[in-house]
Amino acid sequence: MRVLSGIQCTGRFHWGNYFGAIQQYIALQDNEQAFYFIADLHALTTIRDHRLLQQYSRDAALDLLALGLDPTKATLFRQSDIPEVTELTWLLMTVTNLSWLEKCHAYKEKKARGVAADAGLFTYPVLMAADILLYDSELVPVGIDQVQHIEITRDMAQRLNSIYGDVLTLPQSRVMEATAKVPGIDGKKMSKSYGNIIELFATPKKTRNKIMSIKTDSIPLETPKDPDSCLVFTLYRLFATPEQQADLTQRYRAGGMGYGEAKKILYETAMEHFAEARQRREDLEAHPDRLEDILQTGAQTARAKGQEVLDRVRTACGLSARMK
Ligand code: ADP
Ligand code: TRP
Repeated sequence: MRVLSGIQCTGRFHWGNYFGAIQQYIALQDNEQAFYFIADLHALTTIRDHRLLQQYSRDAALDLLALGLDPTKATLFRQSDIPEVTELTWLLMTVTNLSWLEKCHAYKEKKARGVAADAGLFTYPVLMAADILLYDSELVPVGIDQVQHIEITRDMAQRLNSIYGDVLTLPQSRVMEATAKVPGIDGKKMSKSYGNIIELFATPKKTRNKIMSIKTDSIPLETPKDPDSCLVFTLYRLFATPEQQADLTQRYRAGGMGYGEAKKILYETAMEHFAEARQRREDLEAHPDRLEDILQTGAQTARAKGQEVLDRVRTACGLSARMK
């Protein structure tokens, strides 16, 4: 089964991205034919600084590989390395009802906030549909917020198929809800747009400072505390074994432990959890050619598949065969 997902490079990845998405991508690479890409064309709707975009795109690839994405198992590529995807976007646009796009939440939210939306944001879901349909993807693991986009992708594919015959494969979404929402340091959903993230690979000092600023209540040190209503403990659960959780629970309930201590434990556990990945990231960062090589090889594989599907669609629509 072909699994595909994309992740935008609009900032440094954080704990929410890892537990909510990246971890699942990596788990799927063992049993499925996995395609994962860095959605840099989508990121252009937000990042307008060319140096920053380049940097985030590179960081995204480094993070994914460091965290365990294995290029011998999964195909990793940059969205913008596959020009066929923008061509398919156009073809899909010709069968896309405006009302489908008008109801999409990313666009609706911006509009409601009075932010001027451009055509890129409005047609974002069409590019996303092309991302999926170009590779005959069958399964698309996404966060709950993206399910609407997969539904619209199916609508587009169905509409195109009903006009031109069965040319596109209908994908299914797989909602990655096991980890629910990872909260940020203020208790809201961790998201770069809320400025409440803990980055995966910030320096130890920066990571520590972030963890130290997690919001807690003002219960005095000696008073027993409830781990279930504590943000520090909620985050600790992401990393800790059941035994470690039981141990800390007991210390919360016994009193005599302050939140500073809990934060220190969280910091140490998290650093330990990502220690190997951090090392791998540093090694890879020291070899930019190796990184570029992985991305180029990934692009070649993805492109070969993309060209095959695009040819099918072009022919079905009555366009000439693609120039080779
Ligand atoms: P952000 O909200 O920081 O901009 P994205 O929207 O780019 O993050 O999310 C990329 C992926 O990470 C998506 O699959 C999304 O569902 C997942 N994700 C992001 N934040 C969280 C979170 N706090 N908890 C769980 N999953 C998350
Ligand atoms: N829109 C997705 C997000 O913000 C990223 C994305 C772009 C994507 N194209 C995709 C996800 C194709 C899955 C399939 O998270």
